[in-house]
Amino acid sequence: MTPTPHIPAPQVLLAEVTHRCPLQCPYCSNPTELIRKESEISTEAWARIFQEAADIGVLQVSISGGEPAARRDLIALVDAARKADLYVNLITSGIGLTERKLDELQEAGCDHIQLSLQDVDADGAEIISNLKGSLERKLAFARWVGARDIPLTINAVMHRLNLDRLPETIQLAADLGARRIEIANVQYHGWAEANKQVLMPTLEQVRRTNAEVQAARAQYDGTMLIDYVPVDYFAEFPKACMNGWGRVALVIAPDGTVLPCHNASTLTHLRLPSIHDTSLRDIWYESDAFNAYRGDLWMPEICQDCDRKFVDFGGCRCQALAILGDASQADPVCSKAHPDSPMRVGLIATSEPINPIIYRPNS
Ligand code: FES
Repeated sequence: MTPTPHIPAPQVLLAEVTHRCPLQCPYCSNPTELIRKESEISTEAWARIFQEAADIGVLQVSISGGEPAARRDLIALVDAARKADLYVNLITSGIGLTERKLDELQEAGCDHIQLSLQDVDADGAEIISNLKGSLERKLAFARWVGARDIPLTINAVMHRLNLDRLPETIQLAADLGARRIEIANVQYHGWAEANKQVLMPTLEQVRRTNAEVQAARAQYDGTMLIDYVPVDYFAEFPKACMNGWGRVALVIAPDGTVLPCHNASTLTHLRLPSIHDTSLRDIWYESDAFNAYRGDLWMPEICQDCDRKFVDFGGCRCQALAILGDASQADPVCSKAHPDSPMRVGLIATSEPINPIIYRPNS
């Protein structure tokens, strides 16, 4: 195990309570091998986890999926998280939640809702979600949230097929009363990797996006926060994936596997711990998986000597493995470590003919 001089307490728990989902987005961030309903952990197990998480310093839980509303015990899960004194953020597609359910969620202590938006155009939303009428249902849900004054974030995942409607997307979030919009470009892992040719934006779109985000930030300054995650393939330096491995957040999969990031199951050389075997405290502080890429001792020399090493923490381990075949390499985005990065070759490939979308199964 790599020695770690100082390990900060975790702040955020991403609780993936199910992989079931009515949508089939081709950029879904869940693993390509989905966990089935039969393996999902119980309400009681989640309640214990929420308490353990709070005990080691976690302040916020994001209850996510899949679609968390696919779980019949969603209200009980929110209630348990609130009773553990966690700030409860529900990440949802809005599909499957009624007004009555929303009232129950609010009563149980749901503090914040993060609603995914596939497109402001109904046809575009249907093409991505593979569900008829999904936009209409989401808009109805967003209005119910607004009517109850529950803080709302719109999570808009952007790509080649919807980036031309970015200004309308930001406008819609403002009209819905969102306090924050997260403009998240697709991250090309898992399902998204398989759909890269369809979803990768053009260089022209990326340049326009940067300008539009800047203009919108000035326009909505003080009324709506605009977070923006640029596309890795057009970046000079990596992003601080997960704010650094094992620094801020942990992810728990529907079956109780605990991961340092939502993609860590692709790092098959790591033995991922489970809540069935040991405490969350031991997992966070002692497990090999969480200690594998903490600090800077694991980094290649070029990263160890770089003044950005505690800005991006070496970037994304999953991306290094997927593209370079070695999770301990510098993130392939880094132009300093990889001036001839294969990611730039991947980018050129996007001018090839567009393939059909490969949808994620419903699980
Ligand atoms: Fe796993 Fe970035 S997605 S480290």
